[in-house]
Formats: sequence, C-alpha cells, structure tokens
Amino acid sequence: MIKKILLGIVLLVAIIAIGFVIMVYARYERTFEAPYPNIKASTDSAVIARGRSLAFGPAHCANCHSPMSDMTKVDNGEVTPLSGGFNFELPIGNVYAPNITSDEETGIGKLRDEEIARSLRYGVRHDGRAILDFMPFYDLSESDLTAVISFLRTQAPVKNKRPQHEWNFLGKAVMAFLVKPTGDGDVPESPAIDSTAAYGKYLAASVANCRGCHTKRDMMTGGYIGPEYAGAAEFEVVDENGKIIPGKHLVTPNLTPDQETGRISGWSKKDFIERFRKGRLIPGSPMPWGPFSRMSDLELTALYKFISSLEPINNPIPLGIQEGDPK
Ligand code: HEC
Ligand code: HEC
Repeated sequence: MIKKILLGIVLLVAIIAIGFVIMVYARYERTFEAPYPNIKASTDSAVIARGRSLAFGPAHCANCHSPMSDMTKVDNGEVTPLSGGFNFELPIGNVYAPNITSDEETGIGKLRDEEIARSLRYGVRHDGRAILDFMPFYDLSESDLTAVISFLRTQAPVKNKRPQHEWNFLGKAVMAFLVKPTGDGDVPESPAIDSTAAYGKYLAASVANCRGCHTKRDMMTGGYIGPEYAGAAEFEVVDENGKIIPGKHLVTPNLTPDQETGRISGWSKKDFIERFRKGRLIPGSPMPWGPFSRMSDLELTALYKFISSLEPINNPIPLGIQEGDPK
C-alpha cells in the first residue's frame, strides 16, 4: 500500500516537473503587445546634440552599448561608437548589449523609429519579446526620447554582429514566467532644462537611474522595498573585462541629506560637482561614472539641489568593497 502511494507521488511529481519544463519551453520566447509611440527622428542639429549629450552623459547608453575594448575610453567620458559590447554574465545566462549603430545588418539601421521608441518606452523589443530591466528609460520625456533616437540615426554604421542572449534553464523559466515589459506609457511633461531641483528630479528618476540603483529593490520583482534614494542596493563588482568577481559586493550609499548617514551630507555643491568630474574611484563599481563625469555643471547643480531637498533618512551603509556575494 505504502509503496503504491509513494509510486503515485513520484509519478505526480514527475508529471508536474515535465509539465513545467514543457511550459517553460513553450513560453520563454513569448511576445507582448505595446503601442508604437508616435516618435520621428529629427535632423535638427540642436535636437541631435541634445541626444548625443544624453547618450554619453546622464542616460549613459555608452556605458553598456560600447565595445568592452572601449571601456577605458567610456570611463574617461569619451564619445565611442555604440556598436555593442557589454556581456552581462548573469545567473540566468549571458545577455549581450546589442549594436545600436545604424548598420542595417548587425545594428538598428533597419528598425523603424517607432520600434526603437517602443523598446525604450515600454520595454518591448522590436520582435515583441520583453527586455530585462536593464534600460529604465520608460519615463524619458517625449522630446528627450526623440533627441536620443535622432542622435542614434546619425551614428556611422559599424559592422559588429552580436550573439543572441544565451538563457540557461533558470533564465528560460524566468523569461517564461517572470519577465514582463515594465513601461506604462505614462510619460512626464518635458521639464525645463535648467539648474532647478525639478530638472534634477527628472534626471535622477527618469534619465540617469540614480533612484533605481540608490534604492533597495526586491530582486525578483525589481520593486522598491526601501525608502527612495536611501541606498542599500547590493551590486556585483566586476574586473576590467566586465567579469563578476565572486565573493565581493558594493552597497549603494544613502543619497538623502541625513546628517549622520547620508553620503553627501557636508558636501557643498562644488564638492559634489568635483566628485563627479573625478569619475570612478572604486575599480569595478557599477555606477556609470564615465558618462556621468561628462554631465554639465547645470545638470550636476540640478541633481545636487534635488537630492539635498529629499527627506533625510537614517540608513547607515558600509563604504567600499564588501566581502560576500551581493544579496
Ligand atoms: C545597463 C545597460 C544598458 C544601458 C545603460 C542601455 N542599454 Fe540598451 N540594451 C541593453 C541590453 C542588455 C539590451 C538587450 C535587451 C534584450 O534584448 O532583452 C539593450 C537593447 C537595446 C536596444 C534594442 C532593442 C530591440 O528592439 O532589440 C536599443 C535600441 C537600445 N538598447 C538603446 C539604448 C539607448 C538609446 C540607451 C540610452 C538611452 C541604452 N540602450 C542604454 C543594455 C543597456
Ligand atoms: C548602476 C547603479 C548606479 C547608478 C545608475 C548610480 N549609482 Fe551612484 N553609486 C553606485 C554604487 C554601487 C556606488 C558605490 C561605489 C562607488 O562609489 O563607485 C555609488 C556611489 C555614489 C556616490 C558616492 C561617491 C563617493 O565618492 O563616495 C554618489 C554621490 C552617487 N553614487 C550619486 C549618484 C547619482 C547622483 C546618480 C545619478 C546621476 C547615481 N549615483 C547613479 C551605483 C549607482
């Protein structure tokens, strides 16, 4: 009798497991619907210049879409071809940042403006699949999204064929059941580009992803589980080839103006700007210091005013590289 029951349980578990595997394979390449934003690239030189300054500044496209061999240049804040390069070796598989120059075969030359706009605003790729939450540009204003795409169109085509992402089984399961496009299409008004805290807030939350990294997140859902800008998100440390160094992590500092635990409390505006001009000081830090070092004094002033206006949150954060894998 007991043997029969055990056999029944084993069979049931096997059927569920096989069913799960079949479901994963049937679903991991599933596609999603999202509207195509009505965005057309412009040939106006001021619009293109704005797009370039975003891509190589606060929006830091260069940090992921430049070849690994150009990373020193990126760290020095130089303008590089966005011909694709960063390999993310994740527990769910390998993800490759694509070539986004205008090459028709290996880049985005054949994609329509609306397709590029949809991928950035809704997180739905040109082929309908969901984009992992690497590119939090859902809230770029209408004019900034236009500017970025207008700039992308001006890049000379570079031939560089990038591999398809390689998901392991866990990755396929994550793609099949967990990853969904994120953008809700609810886009903020284009803010005035000036040195006010309002523009700083737009940069921090919608362009430069300060909020996304400097807030504790739920690793499964990406949702915020700590007070915004109070830090505490843990990150891998990478070597000069972008490979994760096991057993080490960095914790994002608390950016709120708490006297005791806020990283920049006591920093003047000048200190803040000078810190950004220095670029990356901790090797392997994931913060895109290279592109950020190119931000203008106006942008850095706006960011400084915004974070100084936040409600102080007491949240002590260890500085420097820590032992142990990130949690
Ligand atoms: C943190 C790294 C990172 C940053 C920053 C980043 N990207 Fe990406 N991008 C990726 C990765 C990874 C993919 C591949 C996503 C996928 O296929 O799921 C991608 C895909 C794309 C695609 C292809 C979408 C498609 O339909 O196939 C475009 C276009 C793009 N990025 C443009 C940009 C622009 C413009 C910026 C700056 C405003 C930017 N990216 C910033 C990592 C990044
Ligand atoms: C990809 C994640 C990421 C993004 C995006 C990011 N940061 Fe950071 N930031 C970190 C990490 C990790 C550290 C700690 C390591 C270091 O100092 O480089 C850090 C450190 C800092 C520090 C302390 C520097 C020091 O010398 O102690 C400041 C200030 C800061 N970030 C501000 C910002 C602002 C402002 C933005 C948006 C413009 C931003 N960060 C965007 C991850 C990020």
